[in-house]
Amino acid sequence: MIVFERVAEMRDWVIRQRRLGRSVSFVPTMGALHPGHISLINKARGETDVVVASVFVNPTQFNNAEDLEKYPRTLQDDMRLLQEAQCDALFCPSVAEMYPDGQRIVPVDYGNLTNRFEAAHRPGHFDGVVAIVRKLFYAVPADRAYFGEKDMQQLRVIQTLVEREEIPIQIVPCPTMRESSGLAMSSRNVRLSEEGRKKASMIFNALKRVASVTTLEALREMIPTQIRLLEGATFKVEYLSVVNKTTFEASNNVEEHERVVLFAGVLEGVRLIDNLSIAAARQL
Ligand code: PAJ
Repeated sequence: MIVFERVAEMRDWVIRQRRLGRSVSFVPTMGALHPGHISLINKARGETDVVVASVFVNPTQFNNAEDLEKYPRTLQDDMRLLQEAQCDALFCPSVAEMYPDGQRIVPVDYGNLTNRFEAAHRPGHFDGVVAIVRKLFYAVPADRAYFGEKDMQQLRVIQTLVEREEIPIQIVPCPTMRESSGLAMSSRNVRLSEEGRKKASMIFNALKRVASVTTLEALREMIPTQIRLLEGATFKVEYLSVVNKTTFEASNNVEEHERVVLFAGVLEGVRLIDNLSIAAARQL
């Protein structure tokens, strides 16, 4: 695996690969890699000739200094996992390389996508995500970029970025990898105690219960019931809501399949998010 720390060198290498007729895929990450990330690498490897991953803990997307400081940094382990997954190149730039002019960020306005849910609970988060992903797409001008549905709102924000700015890269959504308990894999899970990890599996149960209701009445009861259950287990629930998958408009129309149940909450001081699409829930 070739490792690049410089934007110009990374970009030249990708352009050379494409001139040689090779299709290139890109998997951006913040490291602390787990099997969820590796599933993106594997999918990319199956669909293109060359796979590039990036590991960069992006300071501008953390709205909370403590979260940034506590974010796990495990570059040596990450490199070993990427190598085992037959990733061809790794881009791991410094903060100065990605933000040579400082970290002042232009806010983005993509309507609901940048106002509600994650955007509302993490002010400035998507401004930082958009800023870094735009820069990463410049450094790695791949044919395709792979993003997890685990971060459904982020995926929609990136799809909107690419559309609005006509960035010639195809965004490939990838399914959420879960522990056998149902807990969505996340770099933040290592900060949970053993008991916390067990409790955190309640999130997937709540999502499934909400996704399974077939009448509006039942939905109106199910959401507060699940919130109470989670709060009884010491979760601080930020939201548990059903929205349209594309617009992130609140959607109580139980007939509609294009909906997704969103969750965010804090357990043991660790912020966890997850979601389950109604269509996916019906196949469980
Ligand atoms: P990070 O949280 O490291 O996630 C990198 C990619 O892995 C994202 O596309 C995310 O959705 C995906 N991912 C995380 N957990 C997953 C799981 N359990 N199953 C499937 N995919 C999963 O998301 C970011 O980094 C950053 O915001 C980034 C896009 C790199 C910009 O800094």
